[in-house]
Amino acid sequence: MSVTIDPAVAACLRGFEPPERLGFGSVMAPVMFRATCQDGVWSSGELRPYAPLALDPAAKVLHYAQSCFEGLKAYRVRGNEVCLFRPERNADRLAHSAERLCMPAVPVSLFMEGVRTVAAYCANLIPASSGESLYLRPILLGTQPDLSVSASNAFEFLVIASPSEAYHTGNMRLWVERQDARAAPGGTGDAKVGGNYAASLRSTAQLKQRGFDQSLWLNPADHRSIDELSGMNFFAVMEGELHTPALNGSILPGVTRDSLIAIARHHGLVVHERAMDIDDVLALVQSGTCSEAFACGTAAIVSPISVLGDGEASYQLHQVPGPVSEMLRGALLDIQEGRAEDRFGWMQRVEAVSLDD
Ligand code: COI
Repeated sequence: MSVTIDPAVAACLRGFEPPERLGFGSVMAPVMFRATCQDGVWSSGELRPYAPLALDPAAKVLHYAQSCFEGLKAYRVRGNEVCLFRPERNADRLAHSAERLCMPAVPVSLFMEGVRTVAAYCANLIPASSGESLYLRPILLGTQPDLSVSASNAFEFLVIASPSEAYHTGNMRLWVERQDARAAPGGTGDAKVGGNYAASLRSTAQLKQRGFDQSLWLNPADHRSIDELSGMNFFAVMEGELHTPALNGSILPGVTRDSLIAIARHHGLVVHERAMDIDDVLALVQSGTCSEAFACGTAAIVSPISVLGDGEASYQLHQVPGPVSEMLRGALLDIQEGRAEDRFGWMQRVEAVSLDD
């Protein structure tokens, strides 16, 4: 299928002036990709000006949260090349999330067409500083106007983009969340769906008042095993070895998580994917055996953790950032930003579209 380019796209892109400070996810590129699916049949995609959606107030997504999304990045590499990082992983994960919510998978070819088209046309919007990128947000939503609790028969697939800085830069103070639960076993924790994030918002609002940045979620089955943060995976370094919670069905299988494990093993680090009991981890932080901890995600990259707060107690990590998180962050960014050999075959080049003619 070929992508239709709306004639207004070039003018939108030419007239776009990004502000000096980008932040994360608040500046939107002026174009978006859209395709629709009716009764299992996908339309071809269109690149069009960024604009609000026309959604029926009875659309299933607004009532029953039938929507899932992805996050991936386009980088400016070696001056002017455009590259995506492991986009097929995001296509596969979106298909997994869609299946969990009874939505049709976006064909991998359509997903790739969407992210590649947006990256190609927005090439000039990709920030050049290290740690910055064009953050791409593919979204799939059920649009059928019908209030019965059943799967939609109509869907939209969109790709929007945001020239962005990293989501978090480090020194994160985590709050161990012992009351609220984010994602139950058998639920949607390993799918990238809005409901998981909605369930985290109350905890985030409460912890901010106590001077913390992010919740550390425990598995609701035992209220002991660490799952993840609200939008990042968790890692700890103990006596030079890397430990991260094993994917247990309620943890999002992060692309950055998977990439850091591969890089760490390539550098000879021992990596343990295992159940991690919060009380054990806190005791090991207190004794100094756990010297550093960090969170990771597409948006956040690698973000060092400085403190774990648990009720009235506070556990300070000794190395912030520690050598392992610095090495992993540097090695990942070196691949993503084209300074190091792409030894894992993760980077996918996109031909930028010139708007000159
Ligand atoms: C990402 O890292 O891409 C996410 O979707 C996490 C979100 C909290 C920004």
